[in-house]
Amino acid sequence: MMLELPRRTERFGSVRINDLQRVLLLESAEDGNVAQTGVFNAPPSKIEEIMRKMAIVVPIKDEKLRVVEGVISAIPSECLVIIVSNSKREGIDRFKMEQDMVEQHQHYTNRDIWMIHQKDHGLGTALKQVGYEDLSDDQGRVRNGKGEGMILGMLMAKAAAKDYVGFVDSDNYVPGAVHEYVTAYAATFHLLRTPYAMVRISWASKPKIMEGSIYFSKWGRVSTATNKYLNKIISGFTGFETEVVRSGNSGDHAMTMKLAEILDYGSGFAIEPYEILNILEQFGGILEPKYTDPIEKGVEIFQVETRNPHFHEEKGEEHLNEMISNALSSIVSSPLCSEGIRKEIENEFPGGQPYAKENMRGLRGFGRVDTKAFLEYLLQNNALYTFSKRLQPT
Ligand code: GDD
Repeated sequence: MMLELPRRTERFGSVRINDLQRVLLLESAEDGNVAQTGVFNAPPSKIEEIMRKMAIVVPIKDEKLRVVEGVISAIPSECLVIIVSNSKREGIDRFKMEQDMVEQHQHYTNRDIWMIHQKDHGLGTALKQVGYEDLSDDQGRVRNGKGEGMILGMLMAKAAAKDYVGFVDSDNYVPGAVHEYVTAYAATFHLLRTPYAMVRISWASKPKIMEGSIYFSKWGRVSTATNKYLNKIISGFTGFETEVVRSGNSGDHAMTMKLAEILDYGSGFAIEPYEILNILEQFGGILEPKYTDPIEKGVEIFQVETRNPHFHEEKGEEHLNEMISNALSSIVSSPLCSEGIRKEIENEFPGGQPYAKENMRGLRGFGRVDTKAFLEYLLQNNALYTFSKRLQPT
Protein backbone atom coordinates (compact mmCIF):
# COMPACT_ATOMS: atom_id res chain seq x y z
CA MET A 1 0.00 0.00 0.00
CA MET A 2 1.23 3.48 -0.74
CA LEU A 3 0.16 6.34 1.54
CA GLU A 4 0.76 10.06 1.72
CA LEU A 5 3.01 11.08 4.57
CA PRO A 6 1.25 13.37 7.05
CA ARG A 7 1.53 16.98 5.88
CA ARG A 8 0.53 18.70 9.07
CA THR A 9 0.81 17.66 12.67
CA GLU A 10 -0.77 19.10 15.79
CA ARG A 11 1.51 18.72 18.82
CA PHE A 12 -0.05 18.50 22.25
CA GLY A 13 2.58 17.70 24.91
CA SER A 14 3.97 14.30 23.93
CA VAL A 15 1.06 13.62 21.57
CA ARG A 16 1.31 14.10 17.81
CA ILE A 17 -1.99 14.14 15.93
CA ASN A 18 -1.39 13.85 12.22
CA ASP A 19 -3.68 15.26 9.57
CA LEU A 20 -5.39 12.91 7.10
CA GLN A 21 -3.17 10.77 4.91
CA ARG A 22 -4.74 9.55 1.68
CA VAL A 23 -4.26 6.05 0.33
CA LEU A 24 -2.39 6.49 -2.97
CA LEU A 25 -2.19 2.85 -3.99
CA LEU A 26 -4.22 0.04 -2.51
CA GLU A 27 -1.42 -2.35 -3.33
CA SER A 28 2.10 -1.32 -4.18
CA ALA A 29 5.18 -3.16 -5.36
CA GLU A 30 7.86 -4.49 -3.05
CA ASP A 31 10.20 -1.74 -4.33
CA GLY A 32 7.47 0.92 -4.82
CA ASN A 33 8.23 4.57 -5.48
CA VAL A 34 10.48 5.02 -2.44
CA ALA A 35 12.38 7.97 -3.88
CA GLN A 36 9.31 10.20 -4.13
CA THR A 37 9.09 12.72 -1.27
CA GLY A 38 5.85 13.04 0.67
CA VAL A 39 4.79 9.42 0.20
CA PHE A 40 5.71 6.15 1.80
CA ASN A 41 5.53 2.66 0.51
CA ALA A 42 4.55 -0.24 2.72
CA PRO A 43 5.60 -3.27 0.67
CA PRO A 44 3.46 -6.45 0.72
CA SER A 45 6.10 -8.39 2.70
CA LYS A 46 6.14 -5.76 5.50
CA ILE A 47 2.36 -5.59 5.61
CA GLU A 48 2.20 -9.37 5.96
CA GLU A 49 4.83 -9.31 8.69
CA ILE A 50 2.79 -6.84 10.73
CA MET A 51 -0.49 -8.65 10.10
CA ARG A 52 0.98 -11.80 11.63
CA LYS A 53 1.40 -9.82 14.85
CA MET A 54 -2.07 -8.29 14.70
CA ALA A 55 -5.46 -9.38 16.02
CA ILE A 56 -8.61 -7.92 14.50
CA VAL A 57 -11.56 -7.63 16.86
CA VAL A 58 -15.02 -7.80 15.33
CA PRO A 59 -17.80 -6.61 17.67
CA ILE A 60 -21.24 -7.92 16.70
CA LYS A 61 -24.70 -7.10 17.96
CA ASP A 62 -27.52 -8.66 15.96
CA GLU A 63 -26.10 -7.89 12.53
CA LYS A 64 -27.13 -9.60 9.31
CA LEU A 65 -25.25 -12.86 9.02
CA ARG A 66 -24.33 -12.38 5.37
CA VAL A 67 -22.85 -8.96 6.15
CA VAL A 68 -20.80 -10.34 9.05
CA GLU A 69 -19.56 -13.17 6.84
CA GLY A 70 -18.42 -10.61 4.25
CA VAL A 71 -16.53 -8.69 6.95
CA ILE A 72 -14.76 -11.80 8.24
CA SER A 73 -13.86 -12.95 4.73
CA ALA A 74 -12.19 -9.55 4.15
CA ILE A 75 -9.77 -9.84 7.08
CA PRO A 76 -6.45 -11.18 5.77
CA SER A 77 -5.65 -14.68 6.98
CA GLU A 78 -2.40 -13.58 8.66
CA CYS A 79 -4.47 -11.82 11.33
CA LEU A 80 -6.06 -13.56 14.28
CA VAL A 81 -9.80 -12.79 14.18
CA ILE A 82 -11.46 -12.23 17.57
CA ILE A 83 -15.23 -12.08 17.46
CA VAL A 84 -17.01 -10.55 20.44
CA SER A 85 -20.71 -11.04 20.02
CA ASN A 86 -23.50 -9.52 22.06
CA SER A 87 -26.23 -10.90 19.84
CA LYS A 88 -29.52 -12.27 21.13
CA ARG A 89 -29.58 -15.76 22.60
CA GLU A 90 -33.20 -15.97 23.70
CA GLY A 91 -35.79 -17.11 21.17
CA ILE A 92 -33.86 -17.57 17.95
CA ASP A 93 -30.26 -17.94 19.12
CA ARG A 94 -28.42 -15.46 16.86
CA PHE A 95 -25.09 -16.28 18.49
CA LYS A 96 -25.54 -19.95 17.57
CA MET A 97 -26.17 -18.91 13.97
CA GLU A 98 -23.01 -16.81 14.01
CA GLN A 99 -21.00 -19.71 15.43
CA ASP A 100 -22.34 -21.97 12.72
CA MET A 101 -21.36 -19.51 9.99
CA VAL A 102 -17.88 -19.02 11.50
CA GLU A 103 -17.33 -22.77 11.79
CA GLN A 104 -18.16 -23.24 8.13
CA HIS A 105 -15.90 -20.34 7.12
CA GLN A 106 -13.06 -21.79 9.19
CA HIS A 107 -13.58 -25.25 7.74
CA TYR A 108 -12.77 -23.95 4.26
CA THR A 109 -10.17 -21.33 5.15
CA ASN A 110 -8.38 -23.07 8.03
CA ARG A 111 -7.58 -19.75 9.67
CA ASP A 112 -7.46 -18.69 13.33
CA ILE A 113 -10.69 -17.37 14.82
CA TRP A 114 -11.59 -16.94 18.48
CA MET A 115 -15.11 -16.17 19.53
CA ILE A 116 -16.89 -15.28 22.77
CA HIS A 117 -20.31 -14.08 23.82
CA GLN A 118 -20.30 -10.91 25.90
CA LYS A 119 -23.00 -12.15 28.31
CA ASP A 120 -21.52 -15.62 28.85
CA HIS A 121 -21.55 -16.56 32.55
CA GLY A 122 -18.16 -18.26 32.18
CA LEU A 123 -16.69 -15.04 30.80
CA GLY A 124 -18.00 -13.06 33.79
CA THR A 125 -16.47 -15.67 36.09
CA ALA A 126 -13.11 -15.55 34.28
CA LEU A 127 -13.02 -11.77 34.69
CA LYS A 128 -13.76 -12.14 38.39
CA GLN A 129 -11.02 -14.75 38.72
CA VAL A 130 -8.44 -12.30 37.36
CA GLY A 131 -9.82 -9.39 39.43
CA TYR A 132 -11.06 -7.27 36.52
CA GLU A 133 -14.73 -6.69 37.24
CA ASP A 134 -14.96 -3.19 35.81
CA LEU A 135 -16.96 -4.49 32.85
CA SER A 136 -19.43 -6.51 34.92
CA ASP A 137 -22.83 -5.77 36.47
CA ASP A 138 -24.04 -6.76 39.96
CA GLN A 139 -24.82 -10.27 38.73
CA GLY A 140 -21.26 -10.71 37.51
CA ARG A 141 -22.13 -10.54 33.81
CA VAL A 142 -20.43 -8.20 31.38
CA ARG A 143 -22.61 -5.16 30.66
CA ASN A 144 -24.01 -4.37 27.24
CA GLY A 145 -21.99 -1.88 25.22
CA LYS A 146 -19.64 -1.71 22.30
CA GLY A 147 -16.81 -0.35 24.47
CA GLU A 148 -17.13 -3.28 26.85
CA GLY A 149 -17.01 -5.70 23.89
CA MET A 150 -13.90 -4.02 22.48
CA ILE A 151 -12.05 -4.27 25.79
CA LEU A 152 -12.81 -8.00 25.92
CA GLY A 153 -11.33 -8.27 22.43
CA MET A 154 -8.20 -6.41 23.54
CA LEU A 155 -7.76 -8.70 26.56
CA MET A 156 -7.82 -11.70 24.25
CA ALA A 157 -5.48 -10.09 21.72
CA LYS A 158 -3.00 -9.51 24.52
CA ALA A 159 -3.44 -13.10 25.73
CA ALA A 160 -2.58 -14.18 22.18
CA ALA A 161 0.66 -12.17 22.51
CA LYS A 162 -0.22 -9.87 19.62
CA ASP A 163 1.68 -6.59 19.22
CA TYR A 164 -1.18 -4.80 17.47
CA VAL A 165 -4.93 -4.83 17.90
CA GLY A 166 -7.41 -3.46 15.38
CA PHE A 167 -11.19 -3.20 15.16
CA VAL A 168 -13.63 -3.43 12.28
CA ASP A 169 -17.37 -2.93 12.58
CA SER A 170 -19.40 -5.97 11.59
CA ASP A 171 -22.16 -4.04 9.79
CA ASN A 172 -20.00 -3.03 6.82
CA TYR A 173 -21.57 -4.05 3.52
CA VAL A 174 -18.35 -3.72 1.51
CA PRO A 175 -15.76 -6.43 2.22
CA GLY A 176 -13.26 -4.52 0.06
CA ALA A 177 -13.52 -1.59 2.47
CA VAL A 178 -12.77 -3.81 5.46
CA HIS A 179 -9.77 -5.27 3.66
CA GLU A 180 -8.52 -1.76 2.91
CA TYR A 181 -8.90 -0.69 6.58
CA VAL A 182 -6.90 -3.64 7.88
CA THR A 183 -4.21 -3.12 5.23
CA ALA A 184 -4.04 0.58 6.15
CA TYR A 185 -3.52 -0.34 9.82
CA ALA A 186 -0.61 -2.60 8.95
CA ALA A 187 0.86 -0.13 6.44
CA THR A 188 0.78 2.69 9.00
CA PHE A 189 2.35 0.56 11.71
CA HIS A 190 5.22 -0.04 9.32
CA LEU A 191 5.96 3.70 9.56
CA LEU A 192 6.14 3.96 13.34
CA ARG A 193 8.77 5.86 15.27
CA THR A 194 7.23 5.14 18.67
CA PRO A 195 5.77 2.00 20.24
CA TYR A 196 2.72 4.03 21.31
CA ALA A 197 0.53 4.64 18.29
CA MET A 198 -2.99 4.54 16.94
CA VAL A 199 -4.39 4.65 13.41
CA ARG A 200 -7.96 5.71 12.73
CA ILE A 201 -9.86 5.43 9.48
CA SER A 202 -11.66 8.40 8.01
CA TRP A 203 -13.62 7.10 5.04
CA ALA A 204 -13.71 9.28 1.95
CA SER A 205 -17.46 8.91 1.51
CA LYS A 206 -20.62 7.37 2.89
CA PRO A 207 -22.97 6.79 -0.06
CA LYS A 208 -26.64 7.62 0.42
CA ILE A 209 -29.60 7.59 -1.95
CA MET A 210 -30.89 11.16 -2.20
CA GLU A 211 -33.64 12.24 -4.57
CA GLY A 212 -33.28 9.04 -6.56
CA SER A 213 -29.53 9.23 -7.16
CA ILE A 214 -26.47 8.23 -5.24
CA TYR A 215 -24.83 10.93 -3.13
CA PHE A 216 -21.40 10.50 -1.55
CA SER A 217 -21.67 12.36 1.74
CA LYS A 218 -18.58 12.85 3.88
CA TRP A 219 -19.69 13.72 7.40
CA GLY A 220 -22.64 12.52 9.43
CA ARG A 221 -24.30 14.34 12.32
CA VAL A 222 -22.47 12.39 15.02
CA SER A 223 -18.96 12.81 13.62
CA THR A 224 -19.54 16.51 12.87
CA ALA A 225 -20.38 17.19 16.53
CA THR A 226 -17.69 14.93 18.01
CA ASN A 227 -14.87 16.20 15.78
CA LYS A 228 -15.87 19.82 16.36
CA TYR A 229 -15.69 19.59 20.13
CA LEU A 230 -12.53 17.47 20.22
CA ASN A 231 -10.89 20.10 17.99
CA LYS A 232 -12.14 22.89 20.23
CA ILE A 233 -10.52 21.22 23.24
CA ILE A 234 -7.20 21.07 21.39
CA SER A 235 -7.53 24.68 20.15
CA GLY A 236 -8.34 25.82 23.70
CA PHE A 237 -4.91 24.64 24.85
CA THR A 238 -2.76 25.50 21.84
CA GLY A 239 -4.44 28.86 21.16
CA PHE A 240 -4.70 28.03 17.45
CA GLU A 241 -7.93 26.94 15.83
CA THR A 242 -7.60 23.47 14.32
CA GLU A 243 -9.60 20.91 12.38
CA VAL A 244 -7.03 18.16 12.77
CA VAL A 245 -9.35 15.58 14.35
CA ARG A 246 -11.42 13.95 11.59
CA SER A 247 -12.00 10.52 13.08
CA GLY A 248 -13.49 11.16 16.54
CA ASN A 249 -16.07 8.37 16.12
CA SER A 250 -14.10 5.96 14.01
CA GLY A 251 -15.00 2.41 15.02
CA ASP A 252 -12.50 1.22 12.43
CA HIS A 253 -9.15 1.82 14.09
CA ALA A 254 -6.12 0.05 15.51
CA MET A 255 -3.48 0.48 18.21
CA THR A 256 -0.15 -0.88 19.22
CA MET A 257 -0.68 -3.17 22.21
CA LYS A 258 1.73 -1.00 24.18
CA LEU A 259 -0.69 1.92 23.83
CA ALA A 260 -3.89 -0.14 24.18
CA GLU A 261 -2.83 -1.53 27.56
CA ILE A 262 -2.12 1.84 29.18
CA LEU A 263 -5.29 3.66 28.18
CA ASP A 264 -8.48 3.93 30.17
CA TYR A 265 -11.71 3.60 28.24
CA GLY A 266 -15.27 4.82 27.99
CA SER A 267 -18.28 2.52 27.96
CA GLY A 268 -20.61 1.95 24.99
CA PHE A 269 -20.19 4.34 22.08
CA ALA A 270 -18.06 6.71 24.17
CA ILE A 271 -15.08 4.47 23.58
CA GLU A 272 -13.79 6.00 20.35
CA PRO A 273 -13.92 9.72 21.26
CA TYR A 274 -12.70 8.94 24.76
CA GLU A 275 -9.61 7.16 23.39
CA ILE A 276 -8.49 10.49 21.92
CA LEU A 277 -9.37 12.38 25.09
CA ASN A 278 -7.59 9.88 27.31
CA ILE A 279 -4.45 10.09 25.16
CA LEU A 280 -4.53 13.89 25.52
CA GLU A 281 -5.29 13.65 29.25
CA GLN A 282 -2.47 11.20 29.98
CA PHE A 283 0.25 12.37 27.60
CA GLY A 284 -0.70 15.95 26.71
CA GLY A 285 1.35 17.45 29.54
CA ILE A 286 -1.59 19.06 31.32
CA LEU A 287 -2.50 16.41 33.87
CA GLU A 288 -0.05 14.43 35.98
CA PRO A 289 1.29 11.51 33.86
CA LYS A 290 1.03 7.91 35.13
CA TYR A 291 3.65 6.56 32.71
CA THR A 292 6.98 8.09 31.76
CA ASP A 293 8.02 5.95 28.76
CA PRO A 294 5.28 7.24 26.41
CA ILE A 295 6.04 10.77 27.52
CA GLU A 296 9.66 10.26 26.45
CA LYS A 297 9.00 8.29 23.27
CA GLY A 298 5.85 10.15 22.23
CA VAL A 299 2.35 8.98 21.32
CA GLU A 300 1.24 9.28 17.74
CA ILE A 301 -2.24 9.34 16.19
CA PHE A 302 -2.53 8.74 12.43
CA GLN A 303 -5.70 9.23 10.38
CA VAL A 304 -6.00 7.51 7.03
CA GLU A 305 -8.51 8.47 4.38
CA THR A 306 -9.43 5.28 2.57
CA ARG A 307 -10.66 4.75 -1.01
CA ASN A 308 -13.61 2.40 -0.64
CA PRO A 309 -17.00 3.90 0.16
CA HIS A 310 -18.19 3.25 3.70
CA PHE A 311 -21.53 1.59 3.29
CA HIS A 312 -22.96 0.32 6.54
CA GLU A 313 -26.27 -0.48 8.20
CA GLU A 314 -28.37 2.63 8.99
CA LYS A 315 -29.91 2.16 12.43
CA GLY A 316 -32.15 5.20 12.76
CA GLU A 317 -32.63 8.33 14.79
CA GLU A 318 -32.67 6.80 18.25
CA HIS A 319 -29.34 5.10 17.60
CA LEU A 320 -27.78 8.38 16.36
CA ASN A 321 -29.02 10.15 19.49
CA GLU A 322 -27.49 7.45 21.68
CA MET A 323 -24.14 7.86 19.92
CA ILE A 324 -24.17 11.67 20.15
CA SER A 325 -25.11 11.44 23.80
CA ASN A 326 -22.32 8.90 24.55
CA ALA A 327 -19.74 10.97 22.66
CA LEU A 328 -20.73 14.30 24.26
CA SER A 329 -20.90 12.71 27.72
CA SER A 330 -17.29 11.62 27.32
CA ILE A 331 -16.31 15.14 26.23
CA VAL A 332 -18.07 17.00 29.06
CA SER A 333 -16.67 14.58 31.64
CA SER A 334 -13.06 15.11 30.58
CA PRO A 335 -11.02 17.39 32.84
CA LEU A 336 -9.77 18.97 29.59
CA CYS A 337 -13.25 20.28 28.73
CA SER A 338 -13.52 23.95 29.69
CA GLU A 339 -16.63 25.58 31.08
CA GLY A 340 -16.94 27.52 27.81
CA ILE A 341 -16.99 24.37 25.67
CA ARG A 342 -19.47 22.71 28.01
CA LYS A 343 -21.78 25.75 27.63
CA GLU A 344 -21.41 25.66 23.84
CA ILE A 345 -22.47 22.01 23.84
CA GLU A 346 -25.45 22.88 26.03
CA ASN A 347 -26.45 25.65 23.63
CA GLU A 348 -26.11 23.41 20.57
CA PHE A 349 -28.05 20.55 22.14
CA PRO A 350 -30.51 22.23 24.48
CA GLY A 351 -32.56 20.06 26.84
CA GLY A 352 -33.25 16.82 25.00
CA GLN A 353 -29.82 15.21 24.76
CA PRO A 354 -29.05 13.17 27.85
CA TYR A 355 -25.34 13.92 27.85
CA ALA A 356 -23.82 14.44 31.24
CA LYS A 357 -20.80 13.51 33.29
CA GLU A 358 -22.91 10.91 35.11
CA ASN A 359 -23.70 9.12 31.84
CA MET A 360 -20.05 8.48 31.12
CA ARG A 361 -18.89 5.24 32.71
CA GLY A 362 -15.10 5.24 32.73
CA LEU A 363 -13.52 1.79 32.45
CA ARG A 364 -10.14 1.15 33.96
CA GLY A 365 -7.62 -0.13 31.41
CA PHE A 366 -6.65 -3.80 31.32
CA GLY A 367 -2.89 -3.29 31.65
CA ARG A 368 -2.55 -5.04 35.00
CA VAL A 369 -4.70 -8.06 34.10
CA ASP A 370 -2.92 -11.41 33.81
CA THR A 371 -4.27 -12.16 30.34
CA LYS A 372 -2.69 -15.64 30.12
CA ALA A 373 -4.60 -16.61 33.27
CA PHE A 374 -7.72 -14.97 31.81
CA LEU A 375 -7.40 -17.18 28.72
CA GLU A 376 -6.98 -20.28 30.88
CA TYR A 377 -10.08 -19.41 32.90
CA LEU A 378 -12.07 -18.73 29.72
CA LEU A 379 -11.20 -22.24 28.52
CA GLN A 380 -11.91 -23.82 31.89
CA ASN A 381 -15.30 -22.08 32.01
CA ASN A 382 -16.17 -23.13 28.43
CA ALA A 383 -16.53 -19.50 27.41
CA LEU A 384 -14.05 -19.41 24.52
CA TYR A 385 -14.87 -20.95 21.17
CA THR A 386 -11.79 -21.50 19.07
CA PHE A 387 -11.95 -22.23 15.42
CA SER A 388 -8.25 -22.70 15.03
CA LYS A 389 -5.67 -25.37 14.45
CA ARG A 390 -3.57 -23.70 17.12
CA LEU A 391 -4.91 -22.12 20.27
CA GLN A 392 -1.65 -20.48 21.18
CA PRO A 393 -0.03 -18.11 18.69
CA THR A 394 3.08 -19.42 16.95
N1 GDD B 1 -19.89 -6.86 21.11
C1 GDD B 1 -20.70 -5.83 20.95
N2 GDD B 1 -21.43 -5.40 22.01
N3 GDD B 1 -20.80 -5.21 19.75
C2 GDD B 1 -21.65 -4.17 19.63
C3 GDD B 1 -22.44 -3.69 20.69
C4 GDD B 1 -22.34 -4.37 21.96
O1 GDD B 1 -23.00 -4.07 22.96
N4 GDD B 1 -23.17 -2.64 20.24
C5 GDD B 1 -22.83 -2.48 18.94
N5 GDD B 1 -21.92 -3.41 18.56
C6 GDD B 1 -21.29 -3.58 17.25
C7 GDD B 1 -22.25 -3.51 16.07
O2 GDD B 1 -22.77 -4.76 15.73
C8 GDD B 1 -21.34 -2.95 14.97
O3 GDD B 1 -20.57 -3.93 14.36
C9 GDD B 1 -20.38 -2.04 15.72
O4 GDD B 1 -20.41 -2.47 17.07
C10 GDD B 1 -20.74 -0.56 15.59
O5 GDD B 1 -22.02 -0.37 16.13
P1 GDD B 1 -23.19 0.33 15.33
O6 GDD B 1 -24.38 0.25 16.22
O7 GDD B 1 -23.28 -0.22 13.96
O8 GDD B 1 -22.66 1.80 15.27
P2 GDD B 1 -22.52 2.78 14.01
O9 GDD B 1 -21.80 2.09 12.93
O10 GDD B 1 -23.83 3.39 13.71
O11 GDD B 1 -21.59 3.86 14.75
C11 GDD B 1 -20.36 4.46 14.42
O12 GDD B 1 -20.04 5.40 15.43
C12 GDD B 1 -19.86 4.83 16.73
C13 GDD B 1 -19.67 5.88 17.78
O13 GDD B 1 -18.39 6.35 17.92
C14 GDD B 1 -19.27 3.41 14.34
O14 GDD B 1 -18.11 4.02 13.86
C15 GDD B 1 -19.05 2.79 15.68
O15 GDD B 1 -17.99 1.85 15.61
C16 GDD B 1 -18.73 3.85 16.69
O16 GDD B 1 -18.59 3.24 17.96
